[in-house]
Amino acid sequence: MRVLVIGSGGREHALVWKLAQSSLCEKVFVAPGNAGTADEPKTENVDLSAEDLDGLLDFAKNKEIDLTIVGPEAPLVLGLIDLFEKNNLLCLGPNKLAAQMEGSKIFMKDVLKKGNIPTATYEVFSDPEPAREYLKTCDIPIVLKADGLAGGKGVIVAFSREEALEALNSLMVDQKLGSAGDNLVIEEFLKGEEASFIVLCDGESVIPLASSQDHKQRDDGDKGPNTGGMGAYSPTPLITEELNEEIMNEIILPTLAELKRRNIEYKGFLYAGLMIDDQKIKVLEYNCRFGDPETQPILMRMKSDFLDLCLKAAKQELKGEQIEWDERFALGVVMASKGYPEKYETGFPILGIKEENETSKVFHCGTKKEEEEILSNGGRVLCVTGLGNDLDTAFEKAYETTSKISWSGAFYRKDIGKRNQ
Ligand code: AMP
Ligand code: GLY
Repeated sequence: MRVLVIGSGGREHALVWKLAQSSLCEKVFVAPGNAGTADEPKTENVDLSAEDLDGLLDFAKNKEIDLTIVGPEAPLVLGLIDLFEKNNLLCLGPNKLAAQMEGSKIFMKDVLKKGNIPTATYEVFSDPEPAREYLKTCDIPIVLKADGLAGGKGVIVAFSREEALEALNSLMVDQKLGSAGDNLVIEEFLKGEEASFIVLCDGESVIPLASSQDHKQRDDGDKGPNTGGMGAYSPTPLITEELNEEIMNEIILPTLAELKRRNIEYKGFLYAGLMIDDQKIKVLEYNCRFGDPETQPILMRMKSDFLDLCLKAAKQELKGEQIEWDERFALGVVMASKGYPEKYETGFPILGIKEENETSKVFHCGTKKEEEEILSNGGRVLCVTGLGNDLDTAFEKAYETTSKISWSGAFYRKDIGKRNQ
């Protein structure tokens, strides 16, 4: 089979690495990919942006692609799946309507509300004045969320009233995020521990993937600004078998049922960001895609044929499928550029990436190859992933490799997976 993967991050590197291992796989194209994907067996980078829908369609037709898998949210929200399906191309990902689960916080919150799914209480605002009045009397901390896609910058947790009013001005008045901030969700602050719960859906059936947790804050001790994720591990002891069942029955299945009630079929990966407090679970967010960096440790543990699984999901043949997992723990450490998640410089040569083995893999997030050099090319640059019999061994594996890699301005958290210690 000839597969096209769309995207260029660590998630996409992990996707192509796992897909290429399948005996069904003849070739994987990645658009646009990175220096890591360029070096995987059977894999070829294609110089097309993930948002160039027409270019990607032409490519898929010309190369007779059998299955297209979309990594990031932006092309899904733009309607890539609708375009490919109209042209009779098999693909895996939610269509434009279903991708609103990530593309619009207002849509997502309404699905949760109508489906009676536990989540933070909230109000919606489309003008700054009533929002300002609301913020003068609401409980603090309070959370402001831009309705539209904002590349991880659309959520502000305000710990004082001043901070909340400042955030409101920046989103709605100064339009710091453009039209994404035209409408706002303002919601209750939830306490607890966050976990990522990702499922694969075929429009009818759904299979949960292995549980995981990521660390969203930039600094050790879960401090500092929010990022796309500074590291992740799987499985997480937080999600017991009992909790797994409860999340499926009380969150995932009712969400898909509410979408179905609106005539929306969900196909592809669905990511629920959960807040768990004293065994009580609430939904923080939905993403219409696999997580990054959660994909890296999760796929490191997958024993089943991933291409076969994706193919079955795309063809609505998931019913009765089971996924086999390595019992071991996987842990990924993100190495980032100085300044991330704000401004950062790129183009620095990366030193020390060595041959990998069965228990250690360096996934590239933002890299490019120039002549024979690998250069940093993003905020998140690498995700170094280790596999071990327990979380501590996976931690040691990952950090042993991480400590040997360097470039000018590289930084990483030293406490991934150490949340409860
Ligand atoms: P979101 O994109 O909605 O997940 O928000 C990004 C991050 O903001 C989450 O991973 C949480 O760390 C934090 N967050 C979002 N909503 C809330 C909330 N209601 N209460 C506390 N923290 C939140
Ligand atoms: N790791 C968080 C995300 O993928 O959005």
